This record gives sequence, C-alpha cells and structure tokens, in this order.
Amino acid sequence: MTRSLILLIVMTIRAGFGRQIYTILRYEAVYAKYTSKFGSFHPTKATNYSKEIMASFSVEEFIGNGILKELLQKLLEEGWDDVPTLKIMSSEDMDLLYMTQKQKDALGIRSYLHDRGLMQYADKMEDCGKTLAELLNISTVDLGTQFEMKRGHIARFIDRTRFDDSFKLRAIAARRRFSMKMHREDSIPKSVGSNSSNSIMRSHARSNPASDRSIEQSIADMKIKDGYVFKGIVGAGPAEPRACGCVNPPPISDQVAPYSAIENISVQKLTPEYKIGMEPLVKTKAPPLKASELWSDKPALFLCLRRPGCIMCRAEAHQVYSRKAMFDALGVQLFTILHEHIESEVKDFWPRYWGGVVLLDRGRDFYKALGGGKLPKEKFLAGFLLNPRALSNFKRAKATEFEYNFKGEGEIKGGLFLVGSGKSGIAYQFIERNFGDWAPLAEVIEICTQMKPFTKVQLVELSFYQNTMFFFLGAE
Ligand SMILES: *[C@@H]1O[C@H](CO)[C@@H](O)[C@H](O)[C@H]1NC(C)=O
Ligand SMILES: *[C@@H]1O[C@H](CO)[C@@H](O)[C@H](O)[C@H]1NC(C)=O
Ligand SMILES: *[C@@H]1O[C@H](CO)[C@@H](O)[C@H](O)[C@H]1NC(C)=O
Ligand SMILES: *[C@@H]1O[C@H](CO)[C@@H](O)[C@H](O)[C@H]1NC(C)=O
Repeated sequence: MTRSLILLIVMTIRAGFGRQIYTILRYEAVYAKYTSKFGSFHPTKATNYSKEIMASFSVEEFIGNGILKELLQKLLEEGWDDVPTLKIMSSEDMDLLYMTQKQKDALGIRSYLHDRGLMQYADKMEDCGKTLAELLNISTVDLGTQFEMKRGHIARFIDRTRFDDSFKLRAIAARRRFSMKMHREDSIPKSVGSNSSNSIMRSHARSNPASDRSIEQSIADMKIKDGYVFKGIVGAGPAEPRACGCVNPPPISDQVAPYSAIENISVQKLTPEYKIGMEPLVKTKAPPLKASELWSDKPALFLCLRRPGCIMCRAEAHQVYSRKAMFDALGVQLFTILHEHIESEVKDFWPRYWGGVVLLDRGRDFYKALGGGKLPKEKFLAGFLLNPRALSNFKRAKATEFEYNFKGEGEIKGGLFLVGSGKSGIAYQFIERNFGDWAPLAEVIEICTQMKPFTKVQLVELSFYQNTMFFFLGAE
C-alpha cells in the first residue's frame, strides 16, 4: 500500500483557496529548508562489542527482547514500522498506542543510544529501571562500573550537544503530519466527520501548474551559500596531486547527465522497503523493472554504491536512511543501487545499514551516467592508498564502528542522483570523486525541497463546518 498523506487545511471561507493550498505546500518546503544542519558520526575508540546491533535499522534489534517486544504487532499495524520513524515518536504518539511509562522510557533510551551507535548497552540500561534523564545524571565512573561502558563510549553517551536535536524535533513535526492519516478518525473533529451532510464535493485537483516547470530550470541559478551558485552537480573537493604529483586523479564529468542517460535503464529489485518482520530478500527473482517507473509520480533519490560491504558506503547509506522521516515528509523516495549481485552481501547490508529498497543495475547504467557515459573507475592503489582524501574518508567512516569486508568489485565509483518526478529530469547528481566521498546531505535536502513534493495532490473531501472550510488533501 502506498503511504498517503492527508493534509487537513483549515481556513475561513473568506480566504482564496488556491493560495492556501500553495501556502501549505510551501510550508513543507520551508520546514525542510531549515533542517540543513546535521549531526555527523563521531570519532571513537576501537571496541570489542557486538557491532551488529550498534546502529542497525532492523526493528527487532532496535526493540530488543525487553518491555517493548510485546508492542511489535501494534507498532506494525499503526505504521511505526521502521527505525527512523520509531525514533521520532512523540509522547502523544505513544499515548495513542497506550504505551506504559516504562515502555516510553525504554523507547527514549533506545532512540538516544541508536543516535550514538551505542545500542549494545540498551538492554542493560532499559533493565535498570531508570529514565534517560536519570541515566544522563549518573557519574561517568558509575556508567563504567554499572554498564561496563568503555571510556570512548561514555564520552559519546554524555555528549548531548553533538547531535542536532532540532532536526529531530522538526522531523517529529513532519511525522505528526503523516500520522494524521493514521489517526484521522481521532484527529478530525467527530462533529465534522459525522455531520458531513454539507460535504459539497469529491473531486480531483492537480497541484499548481508551476510544478510542471522542469526542475533543472527552476534550480539552475539557485544560491545555497553566499557566492555559491548551484550548478546541479557536485564532485567532492577539487582533486589534489597524489604521491608527489606522480599520480594524476582521473577527470570527472562536470555536466549533469541528461535525462536520456537514465530514462531507459532497467533495474531489478533485490529487497523491498523494510518493515517489521519482513523477509530479508525478495524471495522469487523479481522481474526487471524500468527505473523510470520509480519516479513516474514522485521524486526519487538513488544512492549508487561502490560496494555494499565497504564501510564508507555503509556509513553513507546509514546516514541517508537515518533521515528517512524527513525524506518521507518531502515526498522523496529512497533507493540504493548496486552494480553487482552478491546475495550474502545484500543480506548483510539490508536492513542493518539501509532499510529502503535495494536495486540491482546490471548494466551499470546509472554508474555510466555518473561518469558521463563511461564507467568511473579507479584502481585501489592510486585511488585509495595514495589518495589522502580517500584515506581520511575511510577514517571518518571507521568512526561509526561498523563492520566491513572486501568482497566484490570495489573500483567502480558511485554517487547520488536526485531525479524529479515524471520526465522532469535529474535535479542533482553527486560523483564520488575520491573513494568514500559523501554527497553533502544538507545540499541534498535543500534540493529535495525544490522538487515539489506533492506531484499529485488530490482533494479528497471538502466540507464546511461553522463557517470554516475543511480540505482533506491526499498526496501519494
Ligand atoms: C573481545 O571479545 C572476545 C570474544 O567475544 C573476547 O574473548 C575477548 O576477551 C574480548 N577482548 C576484550 C579486550 O574485551
Ligand atoms: C542528579 O543527581 C543529583 C545528585 O547526584 C541529584 O541531586 C539530582 O536530583 C539528580 N537529577 C535528576 C534529574 O535525577
Ligand atoms: C451532529 O449530528 C448530531 C446528530 O447526528 C447532532 O446531535 C449534533 O448536534 C450535530 N452537530 C452539529 C455541530 O451540527
Ligand atoms: C528510450 O526508449 C524510448 C522508447 O522505447 C525511445 O524512444 C528513446 O529513444 C530511448 N532513449 C534512449 C536514450 O535510448
């Protein structure tokens, strides 16, 4: 079932409607515009804990075997079915599920630990019966003795400033808007719902015609930072000479790929979108799928990975998927693309580091599009060992403490695409110039806000109640 968003717009009859709808849509855009500051992964000491669960997106691992386990079914039914979404539950949301105080505390502790990649302590902390506030008030010595917490982890645990909580709060606001759909029976005044005899129309309306303008056009001259004109393409940092100038970095294409480079790509679905208790892989071999169907009515983000076992790729995927709630609010779908199918690698990758759909691009056409028609490839020695930028990318990713391996082809560089809905084209593309370069998330989100999230807004119902007009809008 596709998730639809119901927006309830309350306005007085006097105001003109077109403008009000526009205002609400713009509001969504503005909300995301201010969320462009993100926390980053933290450097830590090496550890010897079960790395598996530290920041996994598997709901079962997130919930653990304690007091929250009995809620699994209910969470699934109510649409709280992936970790990024669970983490932004507000206390009102919890009340709607009749969660006990103990369960609320446990969820608070788990969300906090997940943010910091410290889930290995979750069971013990939940069991000790303290709230998160009380745990944060414990002396560092006691944290060490009571929970056998390593010193580097204690520093991460007590550091409340490093994570951008405002992001979380805004995400909660977004989630509320989504959950209005789920709880609409509760949130729509009963009197309106039941006395809807004066409901005057059920019809379909398209969003404003400006959205038909091509995205490429509308963001061509957009300014992100002072003096920086966005050109629709980013390759991290200019290349530096390597090995005292003996090795030249390969050139990268400085043009956004034309739509024709991706319009006929065929992909195969390897995993579905993660929900609680799902089969880890698509069971029967999925038939090939035209990638263009994926963005036919909603914009889509494609993260093209070099290798799913690579720690830098895992860390980037994790970082993007952590913001799933925000991408949901912006109406942008998330996909990961692989250029090679090694089943065990996909199993390790999903949903631990990425809970979205994973696609196989057998023809490596997305990668060719990134390379301007040619596969962007570089040798391990020149591209990694002799490249200080790649080495520092590796160091940054190591800080996540994720596991990694060296299986598979790792020399084809990836990147990221943001593709507008319909035939509007590639709005943004990022090329992994050095191994492990990450697309700047702030910029990615910024572009998403420009992408007109609700391509097909449907007016589901319009009714009047006490001089106020209620719109019930649904957007796919
Ligand atoms: C690391 O874990 C292994 C087994 O899980 C254990 O035998 C070893 O003692 C641990 N090392 C440290 C330093 O804790
Ligand atoms: C934190 O600890 C101090 C003393 O250790 C105590 O006085 C205070 O009430 C505690 N605060 C909370 C919120 O538990
Ligand atoms: C709604 O209808 C009920 C009876 O169905 C009636 O008692 C109530 O007064 C109505 N409310 C309004 C606001 O018209
Ligand atoms: C993609 O397919 C369509 C329809 O089959 C065709 O008209 C178009 O030329 C193709 N584009 C490219 C770039 O191959």
